[in-house]
Amino acid sequence: MESGLDYYSARALLEWQVELGVTEAIGDAPVDRYSVPDMSPKPKKAEVAAAIPSKPGQADPVMVAQAAAKGAGSLDQLRDAMEAFDHCELKRGARQLVFADGTPGARVMIIGEAPGRDEDREGKPFVGRAGQLLDRMLAAIDLDRRQNVYITNVLPWRPPQNRDPKPEEIGMMKPFLERHVALARPEILVVMGNISCQAVLGKRGITRLRGQWDQAMGLPVILMFHPAYLLRQPQMKRQAWADLLELKARLRGES
Ligand code: URA
Repeated sequence: MESGLDYYSARALLEWQVELGVTEAIGDAPVDRYSVPDMSPKPKKAEVAAAIPSKPGQADPVMVAQAAAKGAGSLDQLRDAMEAFDHCELKRGARQLVFADGTPGARVMIIGEAPGRDEDREGKPFVGRAGQLLDRMLAAIDLDRRQNVYITNVLPWRPPQNRDPKPEEIGMMKPFLERHVALARPEILVVMGNISCQAVLGKRGITRLRGQWDQAMGLPVILMFHPAYLLRQPQMKRQAWADLLELKARLRGES
């Protein structure tokens, strides 16, 4: 890239411009796309190596996470185990672990993607603008994190510049997420956004899959648009409303 920006900085800049309302990508001079080198991010050698099961004598992070998660007999112990887990690079860039918020044992457990700046600062998921919208969405169907909803994220640490989580980061932290769900014992999982959809169900395509029931971790799962996406695309709130009504009907035993 001529600007010298790396992929993630360039993407963050682009998202910022979209947020400001930019709708067209037009340069001053025409670009011959056939002569532009392929700048898509390729895994660096170190990243590939980190994802490959460890050499003898080295701890495999996924196995360490599995053992740590399995050893946790309560949500408090799980939080401690995650605090002590040192294999995920994201931990070094984040201010703190963002474990969960809301009511443990609630019938509904929401799984978001990863903490943003506000969540990183406060140590709780969904407290920024997206979180405020989430609270309003929940209130519309008589749900409230202080009473009957439990909330966590696929990743407990903020990725730098809010970049998308890497597959190896998700894979490494998934044993903790699975244990989290098992210990919180919800009846229904609400999975928000594409990253979470991929992490929990191994599927992408939230636009196609939203509003549909699926099954993961032994529980019924409903997929919904992420509230941050709804802030950017308010016209999609109509579909989100339909999905909320579907959730409400299920909770009442009507669907
Ligand atoms: N987006 C998420 O997916 N999770 C949060 O906690 C905040 C924003």
